[in-house]
Amino acid sequence: MELMQLTYYLITLSLTLFLLSWLPRKSQKPLPPGPPGWPVIGNLLMMGQLTHRGLAHLSAQYGGIIYLKMGFRHTIAICSPEMAKQVLQIQDNIFSDRPTTIAITYLTYNRVDMAFGDYGPFWRQMRKLSVMKLFSRKRAESWNPVREEVDSMVKTTAANSGSRVNIGNQVFGLTHDIIYRAAFGSVSLEGKQEFIGILQEYTKLFSAFNLADFIPWLGFVDPSGLNTRLPAARSSLDRFIDKIIDEHLTREKKTGDDNMDSDMVDEMLAFFSDDQEVEHDEDLHGSIKLTRNNIKAIIMDIMFGGTETVASAIEWAMAELMHTPDAMKRVQQELEDIVGLDRRVEESDFEKLTYFKCVIKETLRLHPPIPVALHQSSAATRIGDYHIPKGTRVMINFYAINRDKGAWKDPNVFDPSRFLQKGSPDFKGSNYEFLPFGSGRRSCPGMQLGLYTMEMAVAHLLHCFTWELPDEMKPSEIDMSDVFGLTAPKASRLVAVPTPRLSCPIN
Ligand code: HEM
Repeated sequence: MELMQLTYYLITLSLTLFLLSWLPRKSQKPLPPGPPGWPVIGNLLMMGQLTHRGLAHLSAQYGGIIYLKMGFRHTIAICSPEMAKQVLQIQDNIFSDRPTTIAITYLTYNRVDMAFGDYGPFWRQMRKLSVMKLFSRKRAESWNPVREEVDSMVKTTAANSGSRVNIGNQVFGLTHDIIYRAAFGSVSLEGKQEFIGILQEYTKLFSAFNLADFIPWLGFVDPSGLNTRLPAARSSLDRFIDKIIDEHLTREKKTGDDNMDSDMVDEMLAFFSDDQEVEHDEDLHGSIKLTRNNIKAIIMDIMFGGTETVASAIEWAMAELMHTPDAMKRVQQELEDIVGLDRRVEESDFEKLTYFKCVIKETLRLHPPIPVALHQSSAATRIGDYHIPKGTRVMINFYAINRDKGAWKDPNVFDPSRFLQKGSPDFKGSNYEFLPFGSGRRSCPGMQLGLYTMEMAVAHLLHCFTWELPDEMKPSEIDMSDVFGLTAPKASRLVAVPTPRLSCPIN
């Protein structure tokens, strides 16, 4: 009886609060336009439509900024370059927090990482550590695995000449190997499959719908079994990475610029403190202290940030070129003219490969590997004439922005030569119509490493082999649809038949 009464009061209270929140306040600007919602649940029933494509569709009706009420949470979707500039540059200081969910908070040990943490002093220290140490161009150990693993992929492909090669599977394997080696060191590749299993469960848990995230008092409704899956997933990760950390501690490796064998775990252990309650206040005196949980959560950031993003970009580049034979012909001709068919392509060739660079950019424009990034406002503010409440979730739709009709001619057509024009946009974050890596404080810290991997892999696949579609398939028959998640990979893997193109030996 008591439980029923409590539930009744809670429902009445929620309804009253909800209805009050809809009453117009004289001093307050209106919320941005958006589809009407239901009492209490708001637009929750539209959840399935809130993908990169669904939001782009809504934007055709409501404009570059759309308001949605997800249960008790205010949400806006940003779908135009002008609105992206507002959020990522003009009011970057207000929109640099990340929204969280029960799953994210639990799996990141209470957000002690970089990707899911709020903007603040600790996040700044993490960011410094990543940019200056882990992903830095100066850190050869993060970059060498790229060359070595691309080399091994080329050899495997050559061994399968004349047969069907699943390019998708191959490049997803490639980026897992690269990041795994960069993070844990080359010796530990044997645990890779177990680790990929843990990553896959994390991906599912991050994207599983949890009613309690939107209507907190409904936490007992748990159709996805999160209450048992979350602790199970995190303890698998604990078992896996704790062992690796212990091995690294036992080896007592030295770290620093002169140590050419250190991996990312070694690099972070240089800042390790056994104290579980490391204080993350503003006054860190320039020193970063990391706990085991910090190290584990940052490793997961790197795994999520650096594997699927890069692999899907490589697969999309190959798919778009096979789908557009003129572009394929032109990029391979450029490789033949600049590099020649008597040697492999090298990093020093890249700056002369003008059209190739345009292919990379056009792929990232049409298929930004993170199609929608999530931010959150740390204070109430205004965008144009609209009121944005404190704590609003912000879905920045890079997919819609990169295909904005006002900014791009034929926005849905794969046309690398658009980037040959003088003054064409670059992806460094100041052209708000082209944001594959985001812009501002939360933009991608792994951009250089990601681009390098993508360029190395695509250039080698194009220069070393001629590619044919299997079973006399026509280019127009390639399935170019995608799936929506943390990334937006091709819905079905790209399969093609390679033939060697070079006169020099590949093995
Ligand atoms: C083609 C490759 C890549 C693309 C297109 C890409 C794109 C992005 C985007 C769009 C964001 C979110 C920006 C925002 O929230 O506004 C992001 C964040 C992030 N990326 Fe990347 N990324 C790539 C590769 C990488 C690599 C290789 C790594 C690491 C090894 C990495 C690590 C991260 C991390 C840790 C964040 C979170 C940063 C933060 O919250 O402060 N990314 N990336």
